[in-house]
Amino acid sequence: MAERIINFSAGPAVMPVSVLQEVRENLLSLGDSGIGILEHSHRSKAYSAVHAQTEAAIREVGSIPDNYRVLFIQGGASLQFAMLARNLIGPGQTADFINTGSWSKKAMAEAKASGNVHVASSSEDRNFCYIPRQHDFSADAEFVHFTSNNTIFGTQFAEEPDVPDGSTLICDASSDIFSRPIDVAKYGMIYAGSQKNLGPAGMALAIMRDDVLDRCRSENPTMLRYSTYAENESMYNTPPTFAIYVVGLVCKWILSLGGLEAIGSRNRAKAGVLYDYLEQSSLFKPTADANSRSNMNVTFVTGDADTDAAFVKQATEAGLDGLKGHRSVGGMRASIYNAFPPEDVETLVSFMRDFEAARA
Ligand SMILES: Cc1ncc(COP(=O)(O)O)c(C=O)c1O
Repeated sequence: MAERIINFSAGPAVMPVSVLQEVRENLLSLGDSGIGILEHSHRSKAYSAVHAQTEAAIREVGSIPDNYRVLFIQGGASLQFAMLARNLIGPGQTADFINTGSWSKKAMAEAKASGNVHVASSSEDRNFCYIPRQHDFSADAEFVHFTSNNTIFGTQFAEEPDVPDGSTLICDASSDIFSRPIDVAKYGMIYAGSQKNLGPAGMALAIMRDDVLDRCRSENPTMLRYSTYAENESMYNTPPTFAIYVVGLVCKWILSLGGLEAIGSRNRAKAGVLYDYLEQSSLFKPTADANSRSNMNVTFVTGDADTDAAFVKQATEAGLDGLKGHRSVGGMRASIYNAFPPEDVETLVSFMRDFEAARA
């Protein structure tokens, strides 16, 4: 087998090796069942136990209150953009959005098909390099939507936006879910595609408060109604069994590290090493404002496209893969989600130092 290299992919992304090893063990036989995890019926006793364990691990990691449902839904975070809007707004009803980049825009575009979209704030004036702090919320919004971490632009909310009392706050947490402590009780709904911090691609996790669930519109097709998932423990039809299994293992891995407090300080320290270096570098510059920087996706440039390309090429040759930035920002992006090993950030910084020294 080829040796593993350092993987900065923005998602699907690096997974904890101990989880991959456990998955490997269970591919041929899940426990002593004699049937591999990919081969079990979703109605089998063995898989039912896996399903329940994953939900329990998610609840424990997120300290999720009892009045929230934990739902596993296929279609990724992109389906959630449409699904949440179709369930929570209709013609003449308004939803507020904080526009912090490409994913917020996609969520807004989907919501426009269901009702009115009001942009409460936006950082588009400076190509989304900051998190807006002043918002103009509408008085009658059915919900307020924000993207907690902006995967492409390398910005992250340090805390929840300050919304009016009684607002239903909805968060796309696809690229920072369970990367730091979270007070779920502040939210009406949190959702995330699974392929960055939670495990493999194949589903979205949705955490929804009961009263928000009760408000959902009933005219949608069966598979687009949250109630279908809530009433059937996400097993109305065949769920993404493998993804659900692995997400459970990843959550247990987070618990083994000490839970969200511990992973939060590990993530802050990891990103801090990279930002500290970027702050004093005379070649590389971070693209996000200092008070808006992401601990998950660190974006940076040299200011010269050829130098950026040379850096990415040499890094790839040195076994540092996936550093090319998204085309809307250019430059480089180091995605360093939960499972990204701290020592590999040190390796990147040392490689950057050498690259910079060679050009001085
Ligand atoms: C913040 C954010 N939201 C939504 C998405 C879309 O997720 P999916 O590919 O699961 O539909 C992504 C994917 O990168 C993302 O980073």
